[in-house]
Formats: sequence, structure tokens, C-alpha cells
Amino acid sequence: MTRTRMNVAEPRVAIVGAGPAGIYAADILLGLSPTATVDLFEKLPAPYGLVRYGVAPDHPRIRKITDALHEVLTNPRIRLRCNVEVGADIGIAELRAAYDGVIVATGADLDVPLDIPGIDLPGSFGAADFVAWYDGHPDAPRSWPLTAESVAVLGAGNVALDVTRILAKHAAALAHTDTPDIVLEQLAASPVRDVHLFARRGPADVRFSALELRELADQHDVDVIVDPDELVLDAHAERMIEQFSQRRIIVRTLTEWASRTPSTKTASRRIHLHLRQRPVRLLGTAAVTAIEMERTASDELGRMVGTGEMLRYDVAAVYRAIGYRSTPVPGMPFDAERGVVPHVEGRVTDADGARIPRLYATGWIKRGPVGLIGSTKSDAAQTVRHVLDDLGDLAEGPAQRAADPLDALAGAVDFAGWLRIDDAERRAGAERGRERTKLVARDEMLGHALPIGEVVR
Ligand SMILES: Cc1cc2nc3c(=O)[nH]c(=O)nc-3n(C[C@H](O)[C@H](O)[C@H](O)COP(=O)(O)OP(=O)(O)OC[C@H]3O[C@@H](n4cnc5c(N)ncnc54)[C@H](O)[C@@H]3O)c2cc1C
Ligand SMILES: NC(=O)c1ccc[n+]([C@@H]2O[C@H](COP(=O)([O-])OP(=O)(O)OC[C@H]3O[C@@H](n4cnc5c(N)ncnc54)[C@H](OP(=O)(O)O)[C@@H]3O)[C@@H](O)[C@H]2O)c1
Repeated sequence: MTRTRMNVAEPRVAIVGAGPAGIYAADILLGLSPTATVDLFEKLPAPYGLVRYGVAPDHPRIRKITDALHEVLTNPRIRLRCNVEVGADIGIAELRAAYDGVIVATGADLDVPLDIPGIDLPGSFGAADFVAWYDGHPDAPRSWPLTAESVAVLGAGNVALDVTRILAKHAAALAHTDTPDIVLEQLAASPVRDVHLFARRGPADVRFSALELRELADQHDVDVIVDPDELVLDAHAERMIEQFSQRRIIVRTLTEWASRTPSTKTASRRIHLHLRQRPVRLLGTAAVTAIEMERTASDELGRMVGTGEMLRYDVAAVYRAIGYRSTPVPGMPFDAERGVVPHVEGRVTDADGARIPRLYATGWIKRGPVGLIGSTKSDAAQTVRHVLDDLGDLAEGPAQRAADPLDALAGAVDFAGWLRIDDAERRAGAERGRERTKLVARDEMLGHALPIGEVVR
């Protein structure tokens, strides 16, 4: 006879991280189990993760996904608790003791390091830090040193395109967005003239998407420059564009840009798209003054090889956009090499590969920092299915239901508190003729969200 656990009838699940992965997991879980409840913990005063603090401000259609995520949070069976960092304010062990399942959806927020000489010089930045700054993340610095006329961006993913576009864009083009005033003011004072984007492989091996690429050229007073010599297709590239339509479109777009004569390029800012160049070192003593790149080629198997030909670009800032990585959550196993929580289909395992009962992962902390917002939904469906399957399994062990863990949490921002921040942002936006202007400072956000006397950090 299969014995079932007492709590199966009304499962109570904790989800850590109110980004898209955590919110979709809550939605799917509550849809499949009409008696379940979810407590959703978020370390920032605001929910939505990278949809709020990663998606570029000039992508309002994508940012609008927050409307759908908001709708999920209105479910009365979800108790949202923002401004609560799991691992600091409450432990994973405490959550495992109190809930029938704990799903960790903490995403990725750090830059992958780049181990080349000069990378620690002033003027060398990580894209994750820059994105957090222009998107008004409460923990990002308030000011950014936008002093360089000539800048390098490393990487050929969509984040590299975002960073390149925001660096080159005239601030006036962002004035209607939710970008905080303090960011707009600094962007408006930027003296930038040339932004060099470097892909280390060829035109058919870039990771960014065709739509995002084309956007580079859709900007007022910004030219895009491509050297036709770097577009020559080798056998590997020919195979790639034959196989993948996206790559074909990308090569077509780049070819069209490369064919434009220099006399048509009159803009005050320029984006230079460089292919087949990998970073070797940053040069400078007190700060970055140049970057040295090595020209690359593909071998017969399509692998990137160095050619030994070195090129130097005089730039006063370098942004590496070569990928994100996750921060480990105290009390959770972490595979430092892969930068994810070890798991089997979302069921978390320890260092020896053994299941940890009632502990699950979803989103970027599970899969690694690749994929669009939509892919966190299918990912969450897989994890949630296992949470629900395991509820019937006695081996998972009982959760203690003695005390409600939320009772002990001081300074947490609940859904009503978040709505007060949301309202303050909408009012700030209305004063400026926009839909919203983001609040940035944690204290200011908490000042709107919490009753007087409860602003604890
Ligand atoms: C710069 C950038 C731009 C992007 N633009 C797009 C785009 O235009 N379109 C698109 O489809 N995709 C885009 N993406 C990809 C998309 O953002 C991700 O697919 C998605 O956000 C991953 O969701 P997640 O919930 O796993 O992680 P996240 O969105 O990172 O959410 C994780 C949440 O967990 C919280 N958290 C972390 N640690 C703790 C803790 N200890 N306790 C409590 N809470 C915690 C974080 O504060 C965060 O709110 C972009 C990604 C980046 C980096
Ligand atoms: N608008 C959007 O839809 C949007 C916007 C932003 C992000 N996103 C998504 O978010 C995810 C993360 O994006 P991402 O751009 O951070 O990651 P990504 O797509 O993995 O791209 C990382 C890039 O960095 C390069 N790189 C890695 N190590 C390098 C090194 N040592 N030197 C030089 N280049 C190096 C990679 O080159 P190789 O290919 O040669 O390894 C690759 O081009 C992606 O799925 C992306 O599509 C989407």
C-alpha cells in the first residue's frame, strides 16, 4: 500500500526568486493543484527579476511581460514577500522544514570573468553591472563613468547588442521609457563617438538574434559600420547558413551594411561591428587606453583558431558581455564549474548525485544563463510536475507545519507594499509624461512600501 504524506491535500510550497521562472512556477503549480498555496520570496523590494532589471529600456514590448507576471501575483493563493533574501534573512533549511516543497529560482546576476591581462584596470566593466546601472537596480552604483569617446564591447550575444545599443543611443531616445532620471542625465552627458563590438567568431557563428541585430541600425544619428573583408564566408560559415535560416538572415543583414558606401555615413555616433577577433589584453597603466585583439579563423571542423595577427584599438572603456553566472545561495548545493544548482529535471541533488528531498530548482539557476523569458515557462512546468509527483512520496519526509515562517520576517514587502511602489513609480512617470519612472534607491522604495518604522535595511 502506498502511504501518502499528511500535507498532500493542501500543499504549501516556497519559491525563492520572483523573476519570471519563479512566477511562472507559482502560476503552473497553482493551476495544477487547486488546493496548493505558494509563498514567494524575493530579495529585492520589487518582483520580476531580469524582466525589470535586465531587459533593455528601449524594449518596452518585452518589459510589458511584467503585466502578465503581475496578473499571476494577484492570485490570493500567493503570498509575495519581497525584500527577503533567502540565505540571509531566512535559511534554505528553515524553508525545507516548513514547506512541502522549496523551488529555488534565483537566476543569474553576475558577469562571467575574463582572464586576460589588464582586465582589472579602471575603465574595464562587466555588462551585468552596466545593465543593472542603466536599469535602475537598487544595488547598482548611482553614477557610471561615461567618459570615454571610444569604447569596446566584447561578446556576440544579445546582451552585447543591448550594451552596444544603449552606449551608442542618444539619451533623448530613451526619454519616454521607464529609465530613472539619474541614468538619463548621465547618458545625455556621454561623449561617446565610437562603439566597437567584437565577435570572436565569424558572421555565421554569432549568438545574437537577427531582430536584435537589425535594431542597431534603427537608431537616430547612429551609423553601423561593417568591414566587408571580415564577412568573407569560409566553408564552415557556408554550412551554417545553409542549415540555419536565422544565421542566413544575420549574414544578409551584415552584408547589406558592409556594402553601404562610407559617404552615406554622417552620423555623430558610430557602431563598428568586428568579426573574428578575440581579446588578448587591455593596455594602459592608470586606466584602459587600448585593447589588443587577435584575428581568428575557423578550422575545418568549425573550431575557432588564432591566426597570430594582432590588432590594436584605442579605447578608453571596455565592456565584457560574455555571459552571466549565478550567485550560489547559502545552504544550496552549487556546481561552481557549470554555475548552476546540480539537479535531475529540477530535483536538486547533492555533490554525490543523491536527491535532496523537497528541494527543487528552475530558471537560469537550473539551466544556466541562456534562453529567453518564454523558455523559463516550459522549464518551470518540468520542475513543478516533479514537485507535485513527489508530494505523494513518504520518502520525501514531512514538513513541520508548526509555525508560519512569514510571521518571523520583519521588513518584508508584501503584494500590497509592492503595489504602493508601483503606484509611486506610475505617478513619477505621469509627472514626466511617461507610463512609469523607476525608483532606484532601496530606502526610497521601502519608504513607499512599508509602514513607518518597518524600513529595516
Ligand atoms: C541583460 C539581459 C537582457 C535580457 N533581455 C531579454 C529580452 O529582451 N527578451 C527575453 O525574452 N529575454 C531576455 N533576457 C533573458 C531573461 O531575462 C531570462 O531568460 C530570465 O530573466 C531568467 O529568469 P529567472 O527567473 O531564472 O532569473 P531572474 O530573472 O534573474 O530572476 C531571479 C530572481 O531571484 C531573485 N533572487 C536572487 N537571489 C535571491 C535570494 N537569495 N533570495 C531571494 N530572491 C533572490 C533575484 O533578485 C531575481 O528577482 C535578458 C537577459 C539579460 C541578462
Ligand atoms: N533581446 C533579447 O531577446 C535578449 C537580450 C539579452 C539577452 N537575451 C538572452 O539572454 C541569454 C544570455 O545572453 P548573453 O549575451 O549574456 O549570452 P550568450 O548568448 O551566451 O553570448 C555570450 C557571447 O560571449 C562570447 N564569449 C564568451 N566567452 C568569450 C571570451 N572569452 N571572449 C570573447 N567572447 C566570449 C560568446 O562567444 P562564442 O559564441 O564564441 O562562445 C558569445 O558570443 C541569451 O539566451 C540571450 O538570447 C535576450
